[in-house]
Amino acid sequence: MSLKRQKSFFEIYAHEYDFLTNAANRKVAHKKEVDALIDIYNPQTVLDAGCASGLTSMLFAESGVTTKGIDKSSPMIKMAKNNYGDKSNLSYQIASFEKLPKSFHHKFDLVVCLANSISGVGSLHNLSLALKGFYNSLKPGGSLVLQALNYISIVDGEILPIRATQHENLYYQRFSERKGKRLYVYVNRLDISTNPPNSEMFRHEFENFTPPELVAALKKNGFKKINKYSDLFLKKKFGKTSRDLVLTAIKS
Ligand SMILES: C[S@@+](CC[C@H](N)C(=O)[O-])C[C@H]1O[C@@H](n2cnc3c(N)ncnc32)[C@H](O)[C@@H]1O
Repeated sequence: MSLKRQKSFFEIYAHEYDFLTNAANRKVAHKKEVDALIDIYNPQTVLDAGCASGLTSMLFAESGVTTKGIDKSSPMIKMAKNNYGDKSNLSYQIASFEKLPKSFHHKFDLVVCLANSISGVGSLHNLSLALKGFYNSLKPGGSLVLQALNYISIVDGEILPIRATQHENLYYQRFSERKGKRLYVYVNRLDISTNPPNSEMFRHEFENFTPPELVAALKKNGFKKINKYSDLFLKKKFGKTSRDLVLTAIKS
């Protein structure tokens, strides 16, 4: 008997990603983070790696920065283009971190890879390919900002609820669970427009990396001046209990 791989929520419902993650609310918080990064780095050109439905890329572009958002998911890129595709300084493209096009070489002042998107690469080998690609995409002197989950701060086996969201007849609940280096994110989607209501449960699996693994991979791929913070304002130093690990590094 062969088991069918269950399709991910994002393959089927990419068009609902903004409802699930409450993009309208996230916009306020993300704008403050993007503004802080623009103040610190003053970039003319940004590569937003793992742009999903395009919000962060749009926030950079709205502040006058020429921005390219990339994602390996074609439904997400379609969503991003639908959402914000009308800005002249903003473009979206399907691309995977591990295989960035040569046309990106030396094009960007800043590469951001936020919201633990890097865990999507799945292995240390692919992490190295991704960081090499980010390095090549930067202009000399350009910077990388990498936001990863500090999974050690989550108790192994603990189920963590993530905020529940709702849009019209759709209700979503998300939970995450750490098992060793893996993070499982469960999404329950409940549609009450049908009788009986339709409930679906999805499980997504991510491979996380330790801070030393991330730092070693950055060094291996040529990055210098590596710093660790616990938020995107780059004010608070990273500690063992920080939920986020934000790494900054420079292509010298
Ligand atoms: C958590 S979402 C990012 C959210 C987005 N940065 C934001 O702030 O709204 C992670 C995204 O990274 C993308 N991703 C994961 N691994 C990837 C890879 N190896 N190459 C390209 N995109 C990847 C996923 O498809 C997903 O859309």
